[in-house]
Amino acid sequence: MKTIVITGCTSGFGLETSRRLLAQGHQLIGIARGGKARWMELLGPEASATGRALAYDADLAEAKTVEDAARKILAENPTVDVLINNAGIGLMGTAEDQDPEELRRQFEINFFSAVRLTQIFLPALRKSRGRIISVSSICGIATFPFYGAYCSSKYALESYMEALRHDLAGSGVQVGLIEPGTFRTEFAGRNFWLGKRSRDPSSPHFARTQAFEGFVTRKRLSAPDPDWVVRTMVNWVNQPKIPVRLLIGWDAKFLGFLKKLLPTQLLFDLTQKGFRAMTRS
Ligand SMILES: NC(=O)c1ccc[n+]([C@@H]2O[C@H](COP(=O)([O-])OP(=O)(O)OC[C@H]3O[C@@H](n4cnc5c(N)ncnc54)[C@H](OP(=O)(O)O)[C@@H]3O)[C@@H](O)[C@H]2O)c1
Repeated sequence: MKTIVITGCTSGFGLETSRRLLAQGHQLIGIARGGKARWMELLGPEASATGRALAYDADLAEAKTVEDAARKILAENPTVDVLINNAGIGLMGTAEDQDPEELRRQFEINFFSAVRLTQIFLPALRKSRGRIISVSSICGIATFPFYGAYCSSKYALESYMEALRHDLAGSGVQVGLIEPGTFRTEFAGRNFWLGKRSRDPSSPHFARTQAFEGFVTRKRLSAPDPDWVVRTMVNWVNQPKIPVRLLIGWDAKFLGFLKKLLPTQLLFDLTQKGFRAMTRS
């Protein structure tokens, strides 16, 4: 049995991964808004009846609540084997339209909360020779129009975690990045939204941004079931070694292949053309 701390466990990849890990006999510690009461209800009676699911309340956009939750977890559960930095939000819109405060929130949740949790749990992970699994995205290795805020937060996460893997070489702690393409979760609904300036009709990008929003909604409705990502997260908890990074989903694998194959300028031009066609209003 491993003790696993997980963020973003109240929906999508994180909720289903938690259910499957509990069914395998692991102990799960969720960091979630709404704490235990909300998580137990979401997990359902079977998972909560195991008695191996604990939850600590924190808003990942609020540094203090994250640090308080992490320290409380360690005080009450000194052994931690796995940290899964899974929570994330997606702020959409053109780079010109990004409001700095909204961008800061994007980075707090997708990047700084993962850094904070990583640093607080590392001493325990060193002792257990554990691992850190961070959920990035295809957007952590490829940049798209309208995705500047989200991509930059995932690029930051990628660089930090890759550097950490180098820094921790020989320590027994493994660090890996999961990079999904598009999958059908709650992400498109609650946690993926257009920033306020993007919704302002006076923005020079307003018409294309509206078309982009329609395109994203259609794309997400037809996106595949998240099972592939969930299976990978569960495997990464159990398998002896984890890779530096892994693209998951045919769209992500195809883009990763193009990135390796094509000159940067050509890939840029093709991306530009594709998005122009998709967002023609
Ligand atoms: N779905 C995709 O197509 C896709 C593709 C590539 C990468 N990803 C990445 O996969 C990860 C999981 O996303 P998902 O698809 O499973 O989306 P999701 O269903 O929207 O889940 C996001 C999770 O993050 C949590 N979260 C968001 N803001 C938070 C905050 N301020 N404090 C605490 N928790 C917060 C949410 O909690 P609440 O329930 O409280 O909102 C939820 O549990 C994210 O890092 C995302 O960037 C997703």
